[in-house]
Amino acid sequence: MKKDYKRTLITTALPYTNGPVHIGHLAGVYVPADIYARYLRLAGRDVVLIGGSDEHGVPITLKARAEGVTPQDIVDRYHKIIKDSFEGLGISFDIYSRTTSDIHGATASEFFRRLYDNDQFIEQSSEQLYDPEAKQFLADRYVTGECPHCHNPKAYGDQCEACGTSLNATDLINPKSTISGATPELRPTRHWYLPLDRWEPRLREWILEGHKEWKTNVYGQCKSWLDMGLQPRAVSRDLSWGVPVPVEGAEGKVLYVWFDAPIGYISNTKELLPDTWEQWWKSDDTRIINFIGKDNIVFHCIVFPAMLMAYGDNFQLPDNVPANEFLNLEGDKISTSRNWAVWLHEYLNDFPGKQDTLRYVLTANAPETKDNDFTWADFQARNNNELAAILGNFVNRVFVLTGNYFGGDVPAAGALTDLDRETLDEMVRLKVSLTENIETFHFREALKDAMGYARLGNKYLQECEPWKLWKAGDSERVATVLNICLQICASIAIATEPFMPFSSAKLAAALGIKDMTWNDLASADIIPAGRHIEKLEILFEKIDDEAIKAQTDRLEEIKRLNAVNAWQPAPVKPTIEMEAFEKLDLRVGTVLECERVKKANKLLVFKIDDGTGKPRTIVSGIAEHYRPEQLVGKQVIFIANLAPAKIRGIESQGMILSALNADGSLIVSAPSAKATPGAQVL
Ligand code: MF3
Ligand code: ZN
Repeated sequence: MKKDYKRTLITTALPYTNGPVHIGHLAGVYVPADIYARYLRLAGRDVVLIGGSDEHGVPITLKARAEGVTPQDIVDRYHKIIKDSFEGLGISFDIYSRTTSDIHGATASEFFRRLYDNDQFIEQSSEQLYDPEAKQFLADRYVTGECPHCHNPKAYGDQCEACGTSLNATDLINPKSTISGATPELRPTRHWYLPLDRWEPRLREWILEGHKEWKTNVYGQCKSWLDMGLQPRAVSRDLSWGVPVPVEGAEGKVLYVWFDAPIGYISNTKELLPDTWEQWWKSDDTRIINFIGKDNIVFHCIVFPAMLMAYGDNFQLPDNVPANEFLNLEGDKISTSRNWAVWLHEYLNDFPGKQDTLRYVLTANAPETKDNDFTWADFQARNNNELAAILGNFVNRVFVLTGNYFGGDVPAAGALTDLDRETLDEMVRLKVSLTENIETFHFREALKDAMGYARLGNKYLQECEPWKLWKAGDSERVATVLNICLQICASIAIATEPFMPFSSAKLAAALGIKDMTWNDLASADIIPAGRHIEKLEILFEKIDDEAIKAQTDRLEEIKRLNAVNAWQPAPVKPTIEMEAFEKLDLRVGTVLECERVKKANKLLVFKIDDGTGKPRTIVSGIAEHYRPEQLVGKQVIFIANLAPAKIRGIESQGMILSALNADGSLIVSAPSAKATPGAQVL
């Protein structure tokens, strides 16, 4: 860990522009990075927060192809949505640029060229899948076929989404090109490889010896990669979308997206600071922090550092890579392709003015050490029971009391009691803990410390009961209590700024604080006596059940649509002879009575007119799909010669046929026109 540094360059993983950003991205990368950057700025440090869109890569070209538009159209669309929504959430990027910029193309190209000229690559030929009709090599994602493990017929060349197995396109049974439908063939192609093995000793020493302070998930992943032994990695691809390989005879080849994207951090710094960018990258007293998700660890801790070492020129390696685990949504993995996400731009639309609630919930639940779950119920509870009931309530009470008793003029503090002194001491302890937690990337704990000021304030107010003192005529004591409460409010404004900048700004403005600094945090005289404080608008409105239900209904609907899309007819059972079928006696019957079976959620018991004059009893497990009264008078098809079975003490004499639909709904079979009860189905 660097001790003496003059400036901190913070990078955030560049999101792919094949879709908008969702809460998983935010919790993992952007909210923590923003907290850290805002904290450093408040602490008066020199800092830049670098972001941008990752606009190359196969998922973007696939999406373009699926929509019949160009990759440029796709990246233009999502870059704008992403950039605007980050701004809407208050992510305080100093620059948010894109990897399709000219400056990035030139920077990435020059980077590759220097490595090429200095013999930092090896050139190798390998066999790759080629589409003979479309006359192009196929990235893994462009090939689909049958999964060799679970036999899902729609597995992709890199992964089967049905069973989750990682695949090589050459593993697929009956591979097909998604471009032309042709069967791909293997053809040799030449590529450039970065020999990571050359850098292994230096990487080992740098990480395993030099950065034992990294988060255990990060350090552990690096160690297992290094222990497995590093291999040369291809850094070019046969594609048309990307930064062209700047070497003669490399037509039709581009830089691998994971080669060009991290260089985007450099290009974006250059774009922001054309004259001084080198200081931020190549000076020993610069500290670089990469905020990423766990799937990016190897690229940031192994591949990109190896690229920087190969480049030389004193490029600094990251000082820390505080990668987070993943956030799930209502118990399921977030997925762009399955639309299982809370999209930031939609959130901002659905909950205007509630940016801080999302920032708060994502930090309180941040997947810092393990995967975590976002639920709308928790979101509502945290807003209502923590932000509104604890923080909002405290500051509101202080403003109201100051208005009522002192006409809004900050009263001067008199002599301090033990309780006052303890309270002021506790403010300082909170600051120490909060600062330490932010500096070591423990933002969940840090947020608890920041909220600690509101909890402390409530406790203090409750113990002092200034309303009673006022009634008893002790206005001097009330003045002291409210002065301290107002100082606590000021500390709340400062302490919460990194986490909840919108409400912090409102509170600071109402308190007349102009330039907040971390230095002032926990101070007993941030707000001078005599200052007139403005009215405070409600910082956190409660969120009602209706707003939450709209969100959970939306997710239910997505679940249903996904089930329909993923639905496949069950494989047909082995062939049977006519004889076997003839043994089966299917009949039509009319439902005379239908009731729920007591204490069984799934069961209905039927009385069926089967033409014999004696009603037949059948128990059927369809109670989740039908209410009994919906079925009385309807006709059904049933198996008439199934051996009777006792179900919950009722003898069931047959089985009613039904069909389970793609969306999970169920219909009982019925003849299309009125049939005679007891008629055979042949
Ligand atoms: N686009 C990548 C992802 O979403 C992240 C790229 S980070 C960078 O996983 F370093 F390459 F920029
Ligand atoms: Zn599979």
